[in-house]
Amino acid sequence: MGTSMASPPYDIKFRDLVLFILEKKMGTTRRAFLMELARRKGFRVENELSDSVTHIVAENNSGSDVLEWLQVQKVSASPQLEVLDVSWLTECMRAGEPVETTGKHQLVVRGDDSAGPSPDPQKTAPLAVETMSQYACQRRTTLNNHNRVFTDAFEVLAENYEFRENEGSYLTFMRAASVLKALPFPILSMKDTEGLPCLRDKVKCVIEEIIEDGESSEVKAVLNDERYQSFKLFTSVFGVGLKTSEKWFRMGFRTLSKIKSDQTLKFTRMQKAGFLYYEDLVSCVTRAEAEAVSVLVKEAIWAFLPDAVITMTGGFRRGKNIGHDVDFLITSPEITEEEEPQILPKVINLWERKGLLLYYDLVESTFEKLKLPSRKVDALDHFQKCFLILKLHHQRVDCGKSGQQDGKSWKAIRVDLVMCPYERRAFALLGWTGSRFERDLRRFATHERKMMLDNHALYDKTKRIFLKAESEEEIFAHLGLEYIDPWERNA
Ligand code: CTP
Ligand code: MN
Ligand code: MN
Repeated sequence: MGTSMASPPYDIKFRDLVLFILEKKMGTTRRAFLMELARRKGFRVENELSDSVTHIVAENNSGSDVLEWLQVQKVSASPQLEVLDVSWLTECMRAGEPVETTGKHQLVVRGDDSAGPSPDPQKTAPLAVETMSQYACQRRTTLNNHNRVFTDAFEVLAENYEFRENEGSYLTFMRAASVLKALPFPILSMKDTEGLPCLRDKVKCVIEEIIEDGESSEVKAVLNDERYQSFKLFTSVFGVGLKTSEKWFRMGFRTLSKIKSDQTLKFTRMQKAGFLYYEDLVSCVTRAEAEAVSVLVKEAIWAFLPDAVITMTGGFRRGKNIGHDVDFLITSPEITEEEEPQILPKVINLWERKGLLLYYDLVESTFEKLKLPSRKVDALDHFQKCFLILKLHHQRVDCGKSGQQDGKSWKAIRVDLVMCPYERRAFALLGWTGSRFERDLRRFATHERKMMLDNHALYDKTKRIFLKAESEEEIFAHLGLEYIDPWERNA
């Protein structure tokens, strides 16, 4: 969470209340999270205690604790000041408006035993629990992951299930990882997981083991598993998927060098390129390299299409500093339907002549204007696109040499280019900015709105119309969702 960033200004809906959240025993992260949440819901929340404050919210503090704290503050608190347990705020957040303060919320000062309103463990469970949606598109997920120990473990397990073609378990662990990535505080005990969506029992078992032992025996077993290790290695080659990995594994192969030198195996053009540029392609693309590729792409596209709008999408648009490739969306307000398919071939031809083209696969468009959006959450789109490997010379990269120390003056970089009609650019941009977030947007559209969304369009099944959009914000608005910025889509 960007606790250091200034919060955007929110409209104050409830002007009679002025809240102050006590940091003591709550911690800065959780306090910042609660403040942000309350402000987003229209509450006025002060950063500092002042005499205008009407409600003090505390957690794990008794009335006496708060009173003691108040006495050392140089503020004359109003006699009407309410001192409340965090459970009151929780209920307000759930209701979306202030709820009445009753005895069970009020922190009272009780002479010797200052236990306050004997906190019900359920109530003091982290607030995120009650506000976190099962859909990633209703969560803000930045790259600041507080639960990496758990999410890394889940991702290993998910990948192993993927290798074993167990789609259900794969999804279970991917969704769980996605939920924990959005959590604004680290999970320290099982209590912190209460009420969180998408945490099945087998997920909770893994969390519990990691909390208790610092590691999961299941993850350890997977990491040592021969099949997992082989699949991981084989699929790291560009052009090698599950089918090929399965075949090689069954044939008894365990190393890439044995596979490369085998005379009987046939490789696709993609796999040949994958082996040829293996070292470059497995070493991730840095942001500096991505920026250099962006310049290269813009030079080439603008040479043929000066008004082209070129946007870097994928992980880099979500703020990541490394990626496995660089993705670009290209569109133009003026281009005709006849010209559009000719740009990418011209660009490829230019790079070929310059000796920069190491591999390419051009996929022609199968886009039809009236076709309904696909029901499948991970269906491929129908735009013209090109999967490339480009030669990026080190001198084009801002921070000089980009990792390679073998005397080679360039690095092979995977690049994806997508060409889309101008009126579809918002849908294409949303789709190609990607992550689990985007799949959940489609799921949300289908199940919660009776709409169909994909990389091309949004269709309202009730009204039987296509909903147009000029920007991503408009698509969120059509879906009745709060807008989530690209860097908050790292689900
Ligand atoms: N995508 C798509 N159709 C494809 C390939 C990709 O719609 N044929 C979308 C995916 O939804 C994906 C996004 O484009 O989320 C970017 O894809 P990819 O480069 O594979 O993932 P990144 O999120 O960019 O991750 P990385 O940083 O590793 O490249
Ligand atoms: Mn990418
Ligand atoms: Mn890509």
